[in-house]
Amino acid sequence: MAREFTRVGVVGLGTMGAGIVEVFARNGVDVTAVEISDVALERGRATLTGSTDRAVAKGKLAEAERDALMARVDFRVGLDALHDVDLVIEAVPEHLDLKQRIFAELDRVCKPEAILATNTSSLSVTEISVATTRPNQVIGIHFFNPAPVMKLVEVVRTVVTSADVVADVEALCERLGKVDVTISDRAGFIANALLFGYLNHAVGMFEARYATREDIDAAMKLGCGLPMGPLALMDLIGLDTAYEILDTMYRRGGRDRRHAPAPLLKQMVTAGLLGRKSGRGFYTYERPGSPKVVPDEYTPLAADAALADGARAIAKVGVVGSGTMATGIIEVFAKAGYEVISVTRGAEKSAKVCEAVKTSLNKGVVRGKLSETDRDDALGRITWSATLEHLADVDLVVEAVIEELSVKKALFASLDEICKPGVVLATTTSSLPVIDVAMATQRPADVVGLHFFNPAPIMPLVEIVQTIRTSAETSATARAVCAKLGKTGVVCGDRSGFIVNALLFPYLNDAVKMLEASYSTADDIDYAMKLGCGYPMGPFELLDVVGLDVSLAIQRELYLELREPGFAPAPLLEHLVTAGYLGRKSGRGFRDHTRR
Ligand SMILES: NC(=O)c1ccc[n+]([C@@H]2O[C@H](COP(=O)([O-])OP(=O)(O)OC[C@H]3O[C@@H](n4cnc5c(N)ncnc54)[C@H](O)[C@@H]3O)[C@@H](O)[C@H]2O)c1
Repeated sequence: MAREFTRVGVVGLGTMGAGIVEVFARNGVDVTAVEISDVALERGRATLTGSTDRAVAKGKLAEAERDALMARVDFRVGLDALHDVDLVIEAVPEHLDLKQRIFAELDRVCKPEAILATNTSSLSVTEISVATTRPNQVIGIHFFNPAPVMKLVEVVRTVVTSADVVADVEALCERLGKVDVTISDRAGFIANALLFGYLNHAVGMFEARYATREDIDAAMKLGCGLPMGPLALMDLIGLDTAYEILDTMYRRGGRDRRHAPAPLLKQMVTAGLLGRKSGRGFYTYERPGSPKVVPDEYTPLAADAALADGARAIAKVGVVGSGTMATGIIEVFAKAGYEVISVTRGAEKSAKVCEAVKTSLNKGVVRGKLSETDRDDALGRITWSATLEHLADVDLVVEAVIEELSVKKALFASLDEICKPGVVLATTTSSLPVIDVAMATQRPADVVGLHFFNPAPIMPLVEIVQTIRTSAETSATARAVCAKLGKTGVVCGDRSGFIVNALLFPYLNDAVKMLEASYSTADDIDYAMKLGCGYPMGPFELLDVVGLDVSLAIQRELYLELREPGFAPAPLLEHLVTAGYLGRKSGRGFRDHTRR
């Protein structure tokens, strides 16, 4: 028989605590909600009222249900109010000494049989538990932000947590409509261990002015389908909380430099820029606690105004290559009204690319996304050629040939001879330095990276890669072209992995290392990222789709360029590639795809 939880206590009604109170009260559990002062208590009550009122306004909660929910919550100042609860969840700031003091006090106040739980993200549950006389009744119940929305709960058992307590808490999670993964006590558990290195890296990129906050966030949303960009997520988490989590993970998690908080974070916390809760973090919000971003001095000018700056007129575009990317890019330009010259290495290849473009455009017609006239017009704008000389009078060339530096350099040297002055020369490379390609020409100022994502007709993102020689005019032209293609162009520097791959692949590699260390299973890790962070796919699902060989190659490039020890490819990834387990394309990767 699972234990009955009729009344629970929540300590600390900040970002997480207020959400946790809502989860319990929504599911019919009475809650004693405790804060440190009247002011903090009123703030917590206001957060809960705001959240439930929004649910009513959105039609997700009936007014009577909201009233019943609020009636289940007893708001109190001081821990003494928790004498009769069956379970307490502590959600005070992420400091070990504070949590230990509170647990010692809870141990004194609460019934002997009560379970004492912490919502810590990174501190040792074991160290917190030894502040009590009942460490076997202490457990981690780690909710995700926002608690009422995110489905995942990480249940953290220490070496002394009793099996009954774990089972009771698992049953409780189910009653709350949550999916739990039960794990042992390690810094960052599953989700944060994989998330925070990525978040800190994104802050570092912003701090180094590698890209703007808007571009970093747009890149991860549009390139990976994440629900929020990393800097917006930092604001949601709270920069003070994020700082403490990183700092603890650095100290507990083997002093991985990637967890050493970016210096900017400390400065922002000291300056009171804590994110949404204080009204300002990486972005500025309408008021403290509001999710609504308002313009500030860093907000870019309206896209059109910025684009007018010296962009060259582009009418005719050459696309070189005959692979998946070239095919998609030809379609994208032709649909957007550009005259396109496709150049391949022979008539046979041109015929194949032409067929592929037709098939894709026809699919658009069948799906009702394109009229027959638009399809015919787009096809009519494309000229098929096997001769580079035909690019003599185009305004822009997009190169999408094989990912080999020598081949790309030779091609750019030829384009330099053939093309008229003033043409913009773009490479779609995803891993080679754009400057190497640029220096194969006599006009590096006109060379830029245009990194499209696969499939190009569907993916809304293009990374515009500026080298140290790219002119402002070339960059403005690239931005104007992306806008006309209906894509979001994000501007970044010429560094391995640009924005998306540099932030994505180390995270995937970390997931492989976590699996290799037997901390959790591929299924639970995938669940954790999907249900805890709202990712569209878990890391192992994504690795199998992208291809383990491709992922390994990118990770190696990142490691070689940045020499960051934490970027060293996971041995398990290397072994799987050596064994020919490349993912979906070979039938087996982290999972066996032949039996599905
Ligand atoms: N923010 C997130 O995204 C997130 C996600 C999961 C877990 N967590 C964890 O949840 C915990 C709380 O984080 P948060 O972001 O909600 O912090 P927060 O700063 O938003 O809220 C903390 C609250 O605790 C209250 N408090 C402080 N001392 C207290 C005391 N002695 N008694 C009662 N209340 C006290 C404060 O007044 C404040 O309202 C941390 O351990 C954090 O790591 C945070």
